[in-house]
Amino acid sequence: MGIIIKNIDCLVTCEGSYRKKKEEMKDAKIIENGYVVVKEENIVAVGSGEGYKEYITQGDTILDGRGKTVTPGLVDPHTHVVYAGSRERELPLKLNKVGYIEILKMGGGILSTVENTRKASVEELAGEARKRLDIMLNHGTTTVESKSGYGLDLESEEKILKVNQLLNESHPIDVVSTFMGAHAIPKEYKENRQEFIRIINEEMIPYISEHKLAEFVDCFCEEGVFTTEECKNILEIGRQHGLKLKIHADEVESVKGAELAGELKATTAEHLIAASDDGIKALADNDVVAVLLPSTAFYLMLGKYARAREMIDKGVAVALATDCNPGTSPTESLQNVMTFACFGMRMFPEEIINAMTINAACAIDRERSVGSIEPGKKADIAMFNSKNLNYLIYHFGINSVDKVIKNGKIVVER
Ligand code: NIG
Ligand code: FE
Repeated sequence: MGIIIKNIDCLVTCEGSYRKKKEEMKDAKIIENGYVVVKEENIVAVGSGEGYKEYITQGDTILDGRGKTVTPGLVDPHTHVVYAGSRERELPLKLNKVGYIEILKMGGGILSTVENTRKASVEELAGEARKRLDIMLNHGTTTVESKSGYGLDLESEEKILKVNQLLNESHPIDVVSTFMGAHAIPKEYKENRQEFIRIINEEMIPYISEHKLAEFVDCFCEEGVFTTEECKNILEIGRQHGLKLKIHADEVESVKGAELAGELKATTAEHLIAASDDGIKALADNDVVAVLLPSTAFYLMLGKYARAREMIDKGVAVALATDCNPGTSPTESLQNVMTFACFGMRMFPEEIINAMTINAACAIDRERSVGSIEPGKKADIAMFNSKNLNYLIYHFGINSVDKVIKNGKIVVER
């Protein structure tokens, strides 16, 4: 049994399972009057015109793609989707210009979410996160990376990573796990940060790796949080234990986080709002994917965004993500992120879609299975009510999803 989508006005394939750079980012391999043939869980044929007819077998579902834009299922490669509570009480503080790191130092921000998350059970956390994943799926996302980091002790970090596992097994969305014990210094180690870092390195990372609770390790390299040296140490130990590297780099201040990502040949450097020229060069030279989070830049009211145009011109593979979290980006929608990427960072629609599909898949080491519509890939497909790709981004602030296919099954029909 299969699904055939025929007569697609705008079939955005993003073909080519590798990091798209420079001019390649501007080419989303669009096919007009396209078709996609899905059998079981996989894509078996892609083309234009009537060629789909030879693949029709009894029982296939035939969908009409007229008036639609069809893309690979969107990939969200940076989220903090497992947490308890919310932080709307910080809104007046933000409006009174109290800074993000200042709120954190006052025991708010990440630390207040840590307090709520520590108290919550696996079931409660999974219930909350499941609702967020449902919203993501409804907005066209089919694969998500999820970071721990609101536990900050081994037991609570393990609890969050177990929620990731549970959701990966029970929700249509695929969840890729990242351990981010180095997200903040918890209040009990405020006066003894070295001891907390020792615990991350000597207790948490070995345990998490041994129990296969995460695939990546990440840390918050930022003025007032973890220093570049501390992050280097944590990431190197993560690598020794078989974890792949991600780094929250230069989100607010320039602390040579991008340079560190280059030096370590990390898979990704993420945020990069304040990345230096040398940092951008280091990313390009070392094939590090830059995961940009423009909804966070908007929400932090920094008045600036990561320099996406310069990064693309200099040959950095750019990916985009929601950063879905309760503090700096409370949104599940990659369609929102499209708006900020276009109107905040001047990325072109074809660049944006490459950044949310194939380059995002590269950011989580999944480019061989998802991120493009081509034979052999998993049938993860988003169908939008847009006659072309420009229209999808031009008409903003709404959910344009018509249908979502995950693993060869229609999971959203609106
Ligand atoms: O990516 N920068 C660190 N972590 C998140 C924010 C987490 C929070 O504020 O709860 C981020 O922006
Ligand atoms: Fe983040």
